[in-house]
Amino acid sequence: MTDLTTPPPDLRSLLKQGIHLLREAHIPSDTLAAELLLLHSIGRDRTWLYAHPEEIVPESVAQEFLRLIQCRIGGKPTQHLTGHQEFWGLDFEVTPDVLIPRPETEHLIEVALDRLAVREIRAGRPPKLTGDNVSVVDIGTGSGCVAIALAKELPAAQIYAIDISPDALAVAQRNANRLGFANRITSLQSNLFSAFSPLATPHSPILFDLVISNPPYIGRKEALSLPIEVREYEPSIALFGGEEGYELYGRLIPEAARHVKPRGLLVLELGHDSLPAVRPLLESPEWTNLLVTNDLAGIPRVLSAERTANSSNPSNA
Ligand SMILES: C[S@@+](CC[C@H](N)C(=O)[O-])C[C@H]1O[C@@H](n2cnc3c(N)ncnc32)[C@H](O)[C@@H]1O
Repeated sequence: MTDLTTPPPDLRSLLKQGIHLLREAHIPSDTLAAELLLLHSIGRDRTWLYAHPEEIVPESVAQEFLRLIQCRIGGKPTQHLTGHQEFWGLDFEVTPDVLIPRPETEHLIEVALDRLAVREIRAGRPPKLTGDNVSVVDIGTGSGCVAIALAKELPAAQIYAIDISPDALAVAQRNANRLGFANRITSLQSNLFSAFSPLATPHSPILFDLVISNPPYIGRKEALSLPIEVREYEPSIALFGGEEGYELYGRLIPEAARHVKPRGLLVLELGHDSLPAVRPLLESPEWTNLLVTNDLAGIPRVLSAERTANSSNPSNA
């Protein structure tokens, strides 16, 4: 029977209720999460929501919103409930098969674009970047966010997106299709650079101008200290780099040295405490011009380096 004493909720009161429930459960970013879940439930954008706060919400929609709020309280990430995350101004599909793109990963794109521009200036060319004659490989592409952001910024670049997980690659391909970059990006299932080995010969190694990667960098020993929405909902293959966390860099950096052109670039995202273990791997004659870039929280987040001009690339054998 309909309860005549409770009027159907309007958008503003429903949003307030959602925020209150999340806040009581100590869910981080409660206001943003409630807003995103409400927008998802009503199928509208933020501008519409704030232009129509008095709009009455059908009971079924209100119930669905409150169900999503309860799922979020249970630990499920907001992005798994909405299926979306924004990155570099683009809307990415997100599923449990991929890491949810993080805002700090945008620093990776900024550093790569800055260093490519500096390379042009050093070569006596104007710094305008279209990506002409630039080849890029994104190792561990996940949702495809890094490869697709670079495809957007470097419209003429040749871009490869690599992941060991076929399920992640399927998401990356759907994102590339939906955002209109599918014809710009070649996706390959590969353990680091292994897919390129059969294509290379000792005299013609496969070489890139830019190797970029946000590799898994959390230590398994830290697993229990991770928030539930990370530990139980994001894929282990995307999170853990080994027992300590930095182990995959130990394979990635020597392989990258064999796949970066002389004066080409390697740009790596770092975990919050990775720098002391990772920097020494680049302090070798193969690399020069090391640069550490902090994120907005002051954490060393991006480590980048240039392949030396005179050291030869060993074969890909
Ligand atoms: C931290 S996630 C990064 C995803 C995405 N690039 C981003 O920044 O949001 C790391 C990705 O590396 C992939 N990966 C893990 N080990 C790999 C390996 N040995 N070779 C290639 N990809 C790997 C995982 O499947 C995952 O998609």
